[in-house]
Amino acid sequence: MSRILVAGGTGVLGRAIVQRLTGAADVRVLSRRDVTLAAAEVVRADLDTGDGLEPALRGIDVVVHCAGYNRDLRHPERDTDQTRRLIEAARAAGAAPHLVYISIVGTDRIPLGYYRAKHAGERLIAASGLPWTVLRATQFHELVLMLLMLAARGPIALVPRGVRVQPVETREVASRMAELALAAPAGRVPDMAGPRVERAEDLMRLYLTARHRRVPILPLPLPGKVARGYLSGAHLAADGVRGSRTFAEFLRASIRPDGTIAPPYDLAARSGR
Ligand SMILES: NC(=O)c1ccc[n+]([C@@H]2O[C@H](COP(=O)([O-])OP(=O)(O)OC[C@H]3O[C@@H](n4cnc5c(N)ncnc54)[C@H](OP(=O)(O)O)[C@@H]3O)[C@@H](O)[C@H]2O)c1
Repeated sequence: MSRILVAGGTGVLGRAIVQRLTGAADVRVLSRRDVTLAAAEVVRADLDTGDGLEPALRGIDVVVHCAGYNRDLRHPERDTDQTRRLIEAARAAGAAPHLVYISIVGTDRIPLGYYRAKHAGERLIAASGLPWTVLRATQFHELVLMLLMLAARGPIALVPRGVRVQPVETREVASRMAELALAAPAGRVPDMAGPRVERAEDLMRLYLTARHRRVPILPLPLPGKVARGYLSGAHLAADGVRGSRTFAEFLRASIRPDGTIAPPYDLAARSGR
């Protein structure tokens, strides 16, 4: 059985990857926090400081890197720095583990700092001298839901005019990541996306209907280069692997019996409050 370290194994994607790998590999999770998981050993380490990385990587055959710095998008370079530290520690561990990295569709086409940071991370992985695999995915259902929740907090629901998204089921991305982690290094593999390209406005309508909220939707024109990138669809996958679960199906399953939805991410931390 191969020994797989999942950096980010406590996150939205990482938890699902750990579930998929359980039973098929000997799984270790890297986290800054003192957490206990039923399915895996947890090793404390910090990708911002490097603390604990070398022992975490000892004896590891495959590193699944789905950790990330996404709390404060004013410092996207911290995400690349995390990847650099993980690679250095993997090299120092001596066993040349296979690196399996999750990235985002359009990292080389959307001029947003966070995308540039992920693209720099991809390049570091490819130049690491270690065997590697990189999968780019479109936005997870949970992220799209979080953005809709944030945009619909007030008396008017704001959406970016003309923007389309292709939300994908995280568990399907996790299955693909697990499959890649158990296979031979493959370099950059075909992108993964959800089954439908949908207008942000239509997704907002679905969300408001699901919450039984009757508030007006205001599509706002977005200015600037980043907006032009999104409007051009540079974050959408023209081909590659398609998930099957739609956002509407995900949304229906997310509604609790009392009609509320548990925030899929820490909303306050993500909105900078
Ligand atoms: N969300 C999307 O729509 C989407 C789409 C495509 C690709 N991706 C990529 O997928 C990856 C995972 O996204 P996600 O939404 O699942 O993220 P998430 O839920 O926010 O999880 C982030 C993970 O990173 C870990 N982490 C953060 N800083 C760390 C540090 N200094 N040291 C060690 N671990 C650290 C966290 O672990 P602890 O808090 O336990 O330390 C947590 O497990 C990211 O690289 C993201 O760019 C996301």
